[in-house]
Amino acid sequence: MKLALLGFGTVGQGICEILLKKKDYLKKKYDFDFNIVAVADFVNGNVYNPDGLDIPFILEQAKAKKKFTKDVVDWDNIKLIKECNADVLCELTFTDLNTGGPAIEHCKAALESGKHVVTSNKGPAALKYPEMKKLADKNGVQFLIEGTVCAGTPVINLIDGPLAGCVISKICGILNGTTNYMLSEMEKGMDYDEVLKVAQELGYAEADPTGDVEGYDARGKVTILANIVMGASLEISDVSCEGITKITSDDIKKAKEQNARWKLIGTVEKKDGKVTGSVAPEMIDLSHPLAGVMGATNALTFSTDLLGDVTIVGPGAGKIETGFSILTDILSIHRSK
Ligand SMILES: NC(=O)c1ccc[n+]([C@@H]2O[C@H](COP(=O)([O-])OP(=O)(O)OC[C@H]3O[C@@H](n4cnc5c(N)ncnc54)[C@H](OP(=O)(O)O)[C@@H]3O)[C@@H](O)[C@H]2O)c1
Repeated sequence: MKLALLGFGTVGQGICEILLKKKDYLKKKYDFDFNIVAVADFVNGNVYNPDGLDIPFILEQAKAKKKFTKDVVDWDNIKLIKECNADVLCELTFTDLNTGGPAIEHCKAALESGKHVVTSNKGPAALKYPEMKKLADKNGVQFLIEGTVCAGTPVINLIDGPLAGCVISKICGILNGTTNYMLSEMEKGMDYDEVLKVAQELGYAEADPTGDVEGYDARGKVTILANIVMGASLEISDVSCEGITKITSDDIKKAKEQNARWKLIGTVEKKDGKVTGSVAPEMIDLSHPLAGVMGATNALTFSTDLLGDVTIVGPGAGKIETGFSILTDILSIHRSK
């Protein structure tokens, strides 16, 4: 399988490290062989070699924040996507939940030129999933997005895999690790402002934390779950959204007294054929599986007709953890060939 990577930051480097480390294992276990033929990145530049790039070398250059020097091409992203000989484009540039950013054009160019797309970028998935899926179907390729919700922790792929045959009436859970970390730390005695500062120092929260603390990141993921798992056609603006900025130390104490704990909960629910989505802080009883999920971890409870509630807990971010989501979708394409 020939791969092209658009964006060579944390996740782009993560999938390369996994592929290099597991090369022999993947060949032996799944008869999976790969070549990374193209990489495009704002910082490092664009490179292409139809016979495969020198991955250890470009990883070294990227880590040293140097411009690529081997196999450099003077092509813009769209030309590179269209003209390279990749079978799969991994779209790993930044998420823009307002416009979708250049990622939408990257995905379109790949699908239109008959290339599968695998992405952890929430933009195209939250804003344009039906359009992307249609384009993929028309061109006989796949548009796979496991990494957009809970990184590599299996969520999207559960539905057509292990949970196929179950009707899912509700999905609710912790979709944002940063805010879950902040709420967990507030229980130890810090107030909101202190905890935000620590989260920023640790790299959990960005300099502008709005996307996390106002619930916008979780809202993007709720939209993806509503549309993909529940078959709805919600726009991001259809999902009600409240973040954690109003939670005080007093609220945390009161919850403790009631044997409960605050969590920022994203919910998708199907009632009488209508799907609704919301993000809001909720006091969760300590007996609920989601209450024990602390720190930057993510968790989702699926309410199903045949199994009752099924809760899955796992990482929601990280270089290898999100890189794995790309691997899992790539292997799924390989298996379907
Ligand atoms: N990291 C995680 O744990 C995680 C988890 C789940 C989902 N995701 C999603 O996965 C995607 C990648 O995340 P990441 O953590 O790898 O981000 P990142 O470290 O910021 O890497 C993205 C890279 O893409 C480059 N880039 C941005 N726009 C580009 C363009 N138009 N053409 C070429 N290169 C471009 C960036 O350059 P500049 O730095 O110059 O912009 C950067 O080097 C994002 O959409 C993110 O939301 C990440």
